[in-house]
Amino acid sequence: MSIGIIGSGALGSNLARILAKKGIAATISNSRGPASLASLVEELGASIRAGTVEEAASADIVFAAVRWVDAEKVLGRLPNWNGRIVVDGTNPVEFLDPNSPDANDPRNPLAAYGIKAVDLGGKYSSQVIRQYVPGARVVKAFNHLDVNVLPEPEVSAGKRVLFYSGDDAGAKAEVRQIIEATGFFPVDLGTLDVGGQLASLPFGPLAAHNFIKI
Ligand SMILES: NC(=O)c1ccc[n+]([C@@H]2O[C@H](COP(=O)([O-])OP(=O)(O)OC[C@H]3O[C@@H](n4cnc5c(N)ncnc54)[C@H](OP(=O)(O)O)[C@@H]3O)[C@@H](O)[C@H]2O)c1
Repeated sequence: MSIGIIGSGALGSNLARILAKKGIAATISNSRGPASLASLVEELGASIRAGTVEEAASADIVFAAVRWVDAEKVLGRLPNWNGRIVVDGTNPVEFLDPNSPDANDPRNPLAAYGIKAVDLGGKYSSQVIRQYVPGARVVKAFNHLDVNVLPEPEVSAGKRVLFYSGDDAGAKAEVRQIIEATGFFPVDLGTLDVGGQLASLPFGPLAAHNFIKI
């Protein structure tokens, strides 16, 4: 089972970090190409290699770790998914320029975090992502924790809870194995229309909480 990561920013680099800690092989990619990832892969060691987006996207399990506004552009142009798994780590938020009016809008409850919610017209986020990756089996996971805590799945009292959801039982079982292998405590929230929304930022009631299984 091969793993690819599209995006090497806050989420993508930390996904690579937690895989590397357990010696799990993965190919990480970004918009600037493999050479730009030289220092990251050197830091993370032999299990993580840098590749092109196409190489990362050809893996059995592909983590989507790009900003919401880039998701269609990045994922939409990739070749056939043929039932391979996409782990949707995105959240439907827009990152704000700190000097923009939105960043200081008192009606934006997320302004303090430098983001604002994207209006999905009544859809849930993985429903939109699924349209960009036709034929893929989508599992929503790794999206609901602050990336600053992501590299520490095992804490002194127990294991950090990681929620996941999806419509395909086989795909969920494979992603669950990765969640367990990286040291988290997996909790299945059911289908994408239920679980995805529970753990999605913004405003999913389970998002951004730091549950520890003791
Ligand atoms: N930050 C968090 O705490 C957090 C937590 C959970 C979930 N998330 C979600 O994770 C997603 C990524 O957030 P982030 O904070 O990691 O963003 P980020 O730091 O801005 O990283 C975005 C990554 O996407 C890559 N990218 C952009 N356009 C691309 C393209 N055309 N082809 C390939 N790669 C492309 C960028 O490549 P370059 O490096 O070359 O620019 C960058 O590596 C978002 O949907 C966010 O909501 C974030």
